[in-house]
Amino acid sequence: MKTYYLTTPIYYLNGEPHLGHTYCTVAADALARYKKARGYDVKFLTGADEHGQKVERAAQEAGLTPQDFCDGLVATYKEVWALLNIEYDYFQRTTSPAHKAAVKNIFKKLYDQGDIYKGSYEGLYCTPCETFFTEQQVKDAGGVCSTCGRGVDKISEECYFFRLGKYQAALEAHMEANPEFIMPASRRNEMINNFLKPGLTDLCVSRTSFSWGVEVDFDPGHVMYVWVDALPNYATALGFMSDDDADYQKYWPADVHLVGKEITRFHTIIWPCIMLALGEPLPKQIYGHGWLQIEGQKLGKSLGNAIDPRPLAAEFGVDALRYLLLREFAFGPDGNLTRSAFINRYNADLANDLGNLLSRTVGMVEKYFGGTLPVCGPAPSPHDADLAALATTMLTKAENHFDKLHFSEALAETWRVISRANKYIDENAPWVLAKDPARHAELANVLYCLAETLRIVAIAIAPVMPATPDIIRAQLNITDPAFTTWESGKHFGLLPREVRVTKGEGAFPRREKA
Ligand code: MSP
Repeated sequence: MKTYYLTTPIYYLNGEPHLGHTYCTVAADALARYKKARGYDVKFLTGADEHGQKVERAAQEAGLTPQDFCDGLVATYKEVWALLNIEYDYFQRTTSPAHKAAVKNIFKKLYDQGDIYKGSYEGLYCTPCETFFTEQQVKDAGGVCSTCGRGVDKISEECYFFRLGKYQAALEAHMEANPEFIMPASRRNEMINNFLKPGLTDLCVSRTSFSWGVEVDFDPGHVMYVWVDALPNYATALGFMSDDDADYQKYWPADVHLVGKEITRFHTIIWPCIMLALGEPLPKQIYGHGWLQIEGQKLGKSLGNAIDPRPLAAEFGVDALRYLLLREFAFGPDGNLTRSAFINRYNADLANDLGNLLSRTVGMVEKYFGGTLPVCGPAPSPHDADLAALATTMLTKAENHFDKLHFSEALAETWRVISRANKYIDENAPWVLAKDPARHAELANVLYCLAETLRIVAIAIAPVMPATPDIIRAQLNITDPAFTTWESGKHFGLLPREVRVTKGEGAFPRREKA
């Protein structure tokens, strides 16, 4: 079986999960579910980045030890991911003894082979972003951190350095030979022009001014720079550098690391150079997605405008929230979100298009046939072929989009079919057919084609909306798994003609504008 290993970033535990974290995690979950549906042996990692000054400060403010603070937040993260139906395989914690032991092994190996050496650092540091900057970089950004726009601290410390510069040529060659290593292409160009071209300088990989980190065991007083502790989590979660690395052997290299744009450079430069130094394969792809903005502003804990996904899930429903996040704008660039756009799309796509298609279909089978379609002789309508052609080619088109992480386009393909099916109802006017007993076979055929379309739609939406297919299937009494596989969605007419319906609650009640 082909394997597929994908990851989200591990989130800093300096606060509760917000909509920005949710965005990336929902995308990863949709991709994981899609790959599973396509028959891959999928492993999906998410987790928590627990060390560093930023988390230490947040714990102090909360009056807790960093470990207690992190334990509480991990529980919250897991609760939120469960609520949002996120089916991860590994939840990596950087405070876990296994992870700490593995990164110590990595650090020691790099030190022993001369790729880490001791020196002293004098420069600028942004604690909210846990990032080192040169004077020039800060100057170019107008005297502030180029990521969060806040002031930076001057630091002067003895520290260990990693020979990042030594691996520049090898990294460049890798990027050249693998054009899809950094996606989308705009991010690749940004990484090459802004970071690689100016030249890589050695990276400070330890700190002495605080203690909440993985200690450098051969030099007490030093703790590892949080990114050097965090990035290897993608491999340590699989057992890399431990006694049991079976998963690492099986699933590494990662097929894709999903990351936000501001941390793309850590993943496309520091992480690959660490793996090059260790002589290990590089991840196949790093996908740097855009930021979710509200009123044109990035949301985040550091900026103080974090939005909690839980009230939104309660208001719209989990599947609707997942749909809206992935449908409203493309996954690569930034996207602006407004409450009214959210409600408009909910009402248009979910309440009207999908919700009505289901309730009208089920309602008409009940009204005209008492809940079970009769088996009649062939009585096709002139619009069947068009509907069937669109429905049976939808999944192949969606595959093309899902494979490129174009979630919005994949969903758009499905909504084209849903709209076509709603138009098919009007074209065939079942209420007219119902008036003429001689046309009952035609009527049964029209309702059958609608049920069959809904069966295929349920397959297509499952990666993004994992609970809705069950609602559709319950109302159409589809219980045979043969009719729910991805491949079965490429064939029209599989469902036995004698469709029995069970009316249920409206799947997506309309929301009033607020
Ligand atoms: N701990 C590091 C990642 C280490 S991975 C080895 C980190 N954590 S974070 O909690 O600050 O952010 C995690 C991710 O959330 C980033 O990819 C970031 O882009 C994403 N998002 C935070 N706010 C976001 C939006 N408003 N929109 C989309 N994603 C955003 O960085």
